[in-house]
Amino acid sequence: MANGAYLFTLPRAQGGLLDTAVARSATIAGEVTMHTNTANDLLPEVRARLKRARRVFVLTGAGVSAESGVPTFRGGGNAAVWKGMPFSLISSAGVLERDLPAVWEWFDYRRNALKDLQPNAAHHALAQMQDDFASFVIATQNIDDLHTRAGSRDVLELHGNIWRARCTNCQALIALRTEDKGERPPVCRTCSAPMRPDVVLFGELLPAGIFARAAAAATRCDFCFVIGTSALVYPAMQLPEIARQAGAYTVEINPERTPFSDSCHAALQGGAGEVLTAVTGDK
Ligand code: APR
Repeated sequence: MANGAYLFTLPRAQGGLLDTAVARSATIAGEVTMHTNTANDLLPEVRARLKRARRVFVLTGAGVSAESGVPTFRGGGNAAVWKGMPFSLISSAGVLERDLPAVWEWFDYRRNALKDLQPNAAHHALAQMQDDFASFVIATQNIDDLHTRAGSRDVLELHGNIWRARCTNCQALIALRTEDKGERPPVCRTCSAPMRPDVVLFGELLPAGIFARAAAAATRCDFCFVIGTSALVYPAMQLPEIARQAGAYTVEINPERTPFSDSCHAALQGGAGEVLTAVTGDK
């Protein structure tokens, strides 16, 4: 971190910092009671904790959108390769510098795949919870806009938004749903410089202030959900670690185990929609 800015980094398997994740998880794991029960065994405790909670913080990843039809990046047998390039390469700051049109082609392809998809039960369950607590903050690694479309307010988009473009010179923004004239790259109407997708690429800094707001919410929360993330990418995964260390009850929802599973208080194995519905039913 430099000057309050946060660098978007890869897990070690793709050239980044998985080591850090494992070391942190191990430290925290020593401090909590580990659960190996099934989701059903843990549900009563999780529901009771949620009922008592006042300040809830939620971190979501690609898995929360899986039931909408959005492919995840890792796991689940999806081919995270595009035109022979791993997604981590085509989504990197280096390619942006070398080949902006290729980056546009990749994000146009992804935007086209997203355009008809709808929020699912998990997005709706989270949107419905937002008025039940003194504070309810969602930080998402997703760029798909589905939390907002489900009705969640003030979503902290850690990795940007695929439906926006940003000027590479003056940072002016346009909404691609309504202002896209089809030129690639789009030309900024303010200063005529080329525009880029307003998403955070590997090796770039997170949007100013967004991570700090998420970290502040994580520090203050008493209940933290970690939903549908492989728990490998930093700095997003610092957030539930911050919450845990600040004393919050931490609950992971994921069909698979992750590096965070042994660090949290309850790892509920299952799909986000189904498990969230079970957790929040009759709240
Ligand atoms: N419900 C909940 N979780 C699910 C579901 C589901 N129905 N289906 C899959 N998952 C889980 C997978 O088990 C996996 O752990 O979602 C997780 C998705 O992991 P990733 O694909 O690694 O997504 P994410 O953690 O969001 O990736 C972080 O990496 O590639 C970058 O910028 C990209 O924001 C992304 C970041």
